[in-house]
Amino acid sequence: EKGGYPSFMEKEINDQPAAVGDTLLGRADANGRLMLDEVRIDPELLKSVDKIIVLACGTSAYAGQVAKYAIEHWCRIPTEVELSHEFRYRDPIVDGNTLVVSISQSGETMDTLMAVRYAREQGAKTVAICNTNGSTIPRESDAVLYTHAGPEIAVASTKAFLAQITAAYLLGLYLAQLRGLKFQGEIRDILSDLGAIPKKIQAILDNADQIKKLAREMADTKSVLFLGRHVGFPVAMEGALKLKELAYIHAEGFAAGELKHGPIALIEEGQPVFVVVPSPRGRHSLHSKVVSNIQEIRARGAKTIVIAEEGDEAVRAYAEHVFYIPETPTLLAPLLATVPLQMFACELATAKGYDVDQPRNLAKSVTVE
Ligand code: M6R
Repeated sequence: EKGGYPSFMEKEINDQPAAVGDTLLGRADANGRLMLDEVRIDPELLKSVDKIIVLACGTSAYAGQVAKYAIEHWCRIPTEVELSHEFRYRDPIVDGNTLVVSISQSGETMDTLMAVRYAREQGAKTVAICNTNGSTIPRESDAVLYTHAGPEIAVASTKAFLAQITAAYLLGLYLAQLRGLKFQGEIRDILSDLGAIPKKIQAILDNADQIKKLAREMADTKSVLFLGRHVGFPVAMEGALKLKELAYIHAEGFAAGELKHGPIALIEEGQPVFVVVPSPRGRHSLHSKVVSNIQEIRARGAKTIVIAEEGDEAVRAYAEHVFYIPETPTLLAPLLATVPLQMFACELATAKGYDVDQPRNLAKSVTVE
């Protein structure tokens, strides 16, 4: 059932074009009008939502962090993302105008389930983004948007993550559509950009050799840092988590803008740092700011490994290694930039002889607190 791959994890990384494609399937008509019939919450109620809280743990929480950028941009609804176990034990402000979006691959994560229960008791409407049909969290939510990634067997999440981002984006666009905030044409264009993602992921998978080679060369590394900005920040966190989980290597993800506020002190000769670089075509000139960050750490001896958009020549001068991903609008870039980081962690752990499907101390679904 591993489809000819040596591990479920490799299979699942390679399943990602289908995971995203299937999650998009049948969700819009020919004019790009979203029809999320499963979201059986009264549209009038959804229109009155004045706050969104995304609840999740681990990788699913990083999907939520990515989604926040898109939902706030498209819907203009303040969106918080909180780890379910933190949310549960404070005194969160939730009421009938709050939409709680839980994200869970398994649908059984205890902390997320308890957080959803609490939110419902406070009168919030709850939507579950979930990969497992009939699991507990969707059953206890007002509505569910299934990710169609197919069963995820490897303990470390890969294809579910990309499918969660895709589903959260569909939900964001649907809310924007309901609230009349986006012209239908714009939604159609974003959906068509999303529709182009599976092929672009495939292109990255077809070019895996370079990153896998680097991973094998780095098998003895003791610590790896990951920097990202904007939607690249949660991608950096996810890259670090994959490396911790699979290769048992100390890894940290940082917001690139935080460098000077502390983490730059960690940089010494030979310290490997992955940098997820925003598109040079993006708004806010974030590209040049991140390129300056690369220069700063390079000057202090870091070994810089850069994920950048095809055609971005500016990064070459400061990068020891550059991995190019296909062009895509900034908000969709996590669906591509994550893939080389997953492949890196998987290959490095394999080179160390570890079981990538069953990393030590971890369970696929955490059904206890
Ligand atoms: O099933 P869930 O999405 O609720 O699981 C959440 C986390 O336990 C999960 O993402 C975990 O962090 C994975 N091991 C990440 O690879």
